Amino acid sequence: MTIQSFIPPRRTLMGPGPSDISPQVLQALSRPTVGHLDPLFVGMMDELKQLLKYAFQTENEFTIAVSAPGSAGMEACFVNLIEAGDKVIVCRNGVFGERMRENVIRAGGEAVVVDDEWGTPVSVDKVAQALQDNPDTKIIAFVHAETSTGAVSDAQALGALAKQYNALTIVDTVTSLGGVPLKVDEWQLDAVYSGSQKCLSCTPGLAPLTFSPQAIEKIQSRTTPVQSWFLDQSLVLGYWSGEGKRSYHHTAPVNSLYALHESLVMLQNEGLENAWLRHQAMHEKLKTGLEKLGFTFVVEEAYRLPQLNAVYVPAGIDEAKVRNHLLETYNLEIGAGLGALAGKAWRIGLMGYGAREENVALCLRALEESLTQ
Ligand SMILES: Cc1ncc(COP(=O)(O)O)c(C=O)c1O
Repeated sequence: MTIQSFIPPRRTLMGPGPSDISPQVLQALSRPTVGHLDPLFVGMMDELKQLLKYAFQTENEFTIAVSAPGSAGMEACFVNLIEAGDKVIVCRNGVFGERMRENVIRAGGEAVVVDDEWGTPVSVDKVAQALQDNPDTKIIAFVHAETSTGAVSDAQALGALAKQYNALTIVDTVTSLGGVPLKVDEWQLDAVYSGSQKCLSCTPGLAPLTFSPQAIEKIQSRTTPVQSWFLDQSLVLGYWSGEGKRSYHHTAPVNSLYALHESLVMLQNEGLENAWLRHQAMHEKLKTGLEKLGFTFVVEEAYRLPQLNAVYVPAGIDEAKVRNHLLETYNLEIGAGLGALAGKAWRIGLMGYGAREENVALCLRALEESLTQ
């Protein structure tokens, strides 16, 4: 049998990511490939840095996109900032907090875990207590937007608390960047990573990353080399930094970076604040419709992410069967529950280009019809 080209159907992606990608970004992806050290491409990377600085709201010179998914952004922060024996407070209120803990251990650090209930934000009071109990803490790590539950944590308060204790922060903004307010400089955050496939609505596989001058200082004062060659950001620095200059580190994913550039141009043209407001407005519409259908949310309103709506599956419903039905009948993807919420909740994403009226309407109609059946 000769295998034919793969032609996927056009789905509406309303899960926890990847999100719908605009035709404009898909078009950018298919532009002619140029060499990754071509002066034109180098110029594009300089623009990309500017656009990422805007998205992160930072002046950090070290602001780049790691050539790998969000998980690599996470790992880049931990392996670069932690040296053997460093004490790290890890806030765990969902799946990704636990992944942070695993990263700390693998990087040779000592993890002090602060647990909060799934579906609730990180407790700033508990972190303050952990800092009092562990004044030798070097780093506080937390997830700004927990994709497994849909809860947002107070990154501003945690950033300020870390500074009081002379600690650095590692912050996961994979789901928050572009969807809810995030102000890296104003909130004094140090090592902040994200993903391309959520509220930026770009193709998966890139991890925006920014390091504050204090984070760079910690990396530069290391007494041991970073164990990972690929993720050692002191080597990558030469590749991305110095306007117009590049030395070879690895072959950049040229076309994916075109796509990221385009999605960030779209964000710039819309305006960051407008993008935040759009996510909130679409969430309100979805919420009203879901509540009419009898759904209840996992997360209290005050801590609810507009871009990740976790709702309990109604009693007596086979959740996997309904999700399959939505996929087959409406070409609509919604997400299953993860970890503690597996089998109990659905996660409905309204991310980036996917946060628009027709998606909300399709989701509500499809859910109503499927549940009636
Ligand atoms: C909060 C959070 N952190 C990290 C990741 C990992 O990103 P990726 O799947 O792109 O490796 C995800 C992915 O869903 C996420 O939601």
